[in-house]
Amino acid sequence: MRRPLVAGNWKMHGSRADNATLVHGLLDLLQPGARADVLLCPPFVYLWETGRLVKDSDVALGGQSVCAEAQGAFTGEVSGAMLRDVGCRYVLVGHSERRQVYGESDSLVARKFVAAQASGLVPVLCVGETLDEREAGRTSSVVDRQLDAVLAVTGVGALGSAVIAYEPVWAIGTGRNATPDQAQEVHEAIRAKVAALDGTIADSVRILYGGSVKASNARELFAMPDIDGGLVGGASLKADEFAQICAAAG
Ligand code: 13P
Repeated sequence: MRRPLVAGNWKMHGSRADNATLVHGLLDLLQPGARADVLLCPPFVYLWETGRLVKDSDVALGGQSVCAEAQGAFTGEVSGAMLRDVGCRYVLVGHSERRQVYGESDSLVARKFVAAQASGLVPVLCVGETLDEREAGRTSSVVDRQLDAVLAVTGVGALGSAVIAYEPVWAIGTGRNATPDQAQEVHEAIRAKVAALDGTIADSVRILYGGSVKASNARELFAMPDIDGGLVGGASLKADEFAQICAAAG
């Protein structure tokens, strides 16, 4: 049975004071012994301090991105080893904002995925189509292409220590979530694609849904058979709402 995972992606939000209030509030509200794993992905500069705040809990820490290179003259970048050094276990790779705003290509995302695993991090590989792509009937070809770019470099075995996040771009930050059926359809297709390569890994790989997940829609999304939790943006900045989303995952 796959253990659900709920990840909060703070994006470029927060301050030292706000983060302390948020994390303390969250730790008070999370149910002890809950089934779902909980992950927080603050901006790089707040990773260490957030790690201190959660150190006596089961909440895990993750980066929002990682450099494809191990070290060197890459101004502004942060390596996988650095993320590990400050306590990260996970890192987001290929978030749509990285792809769209910063022009990260499928091949760069694949290199970042490899760099993350080489550092001992669990990559959370984000995939998803834009509204234009969905309306043109290209959802599955876009998601396939994004997955294939990584699989071509790593092979399916790498998904044994990774997480996939389906985040339709049109649902991110818009308040318009994919319906449970729309999300399930893509999750099922992703799992089938993995199953064609390795059935055991397909059964165990966690596929998260992201895009306007809220306390009010989390339960019905997470009830779908191939949705193993969420990657939550805006609603992860509110302790009570994020705690409710975590509770909805089990
Ligand atoms: P929202 O939950 O704000 O739509 O963001 C989703 C997301 O991009 C998480 O990575």
